[in-house]
Amino acid sequence: MRRKIVAGNWKMNGTRQIAKDLAVGVSAIVEGLDKSVEVLIAPPFILMADVVAQISSDVNLASQNVSGFDNGAFTGEVSADMLVGFGCSYSIVGHSERRALFGDTNEVVSAKVAKCIDKNIQPILCVGETLEERESGKIFEVVGSQLRAALKGLSQVQLGKVVIAYEPVWAIGTGKTATPEQAQEVHEFIRREIAVIDKAVSDVISIIYGGSVNAGNAKNLFAMADIDGGLIGGASLKLEEFEVICKAIG
Ligand code: PGA
Repeated sequence: MRRKIVAGNWKMNGTRQIAKDLAVGVSAIVEGLDKSVEVLIAPPFILMADVVAQISSDVNLASQNVSGFDNGAFTGEVSADMLVGFGCSYSIVGHSERRALFGDTNEVVSAKVAKCIDKNIQPILCVGETLEERESGKIFEVVGSQLRAALKGLSQVQLGKVVIAYEPVWAIGTGKTATPEQAQEVHEFIRREIAVIDKAVSDVISIIYGGSVNAGNAKNLFAMADIDGGLIGGASLKLEEFEVICKAIG
């Protein structure tokens, strides 16, 4: 069965106190939710300890990034083992902000996916096209090549650990959401691409949508056949809004 997932990506926001307050608030939200919904929060690395001290066991901890290396002379990086030590069970990998601003190429993303799986962290693999790519008819070419590069060489069991996030770059942080139909079209394509690799996994893999999801549009997006949840940026920092979004998937 496909899992329903709502993940809050806090990005580089918050302070220790804000993180603690949000963690307490999200725990309370999750208490009132149907247990079939998995709620994740991805705080900045340095706020993880504060978050861990506050969250209930029903809230899943995710990281916003992870190193593709084990350990050693990699100044400023954070390893999968360090994350596991905090109880982190998911990691966002290949977010478009990392691809565009921090040199996360398809090769780097592939190494990070492999490292996560090796260390028992479920990667949330982000894929998505820019506006220019969409307008020049390259959506499927771009998303397909991001997928193939990141998933290359994974076994069926390993592939089954991956969550995919479709995040059109033009919709992230812009207030411009993809319509449910636009998102569904790409989600369906992603599921078909996964089926080419492994049909059984394509039936159960969760494919979540990200890009300006808010309290007003979540329900219609989540109602689409191949949308299994959301990766929420800005709206995950506002508890009332995040609650509405979590309930929209129930
Ligand atoms: P947004 O961000 O909801 O603020 O558009 C989504 C994301 O980047 O994960």
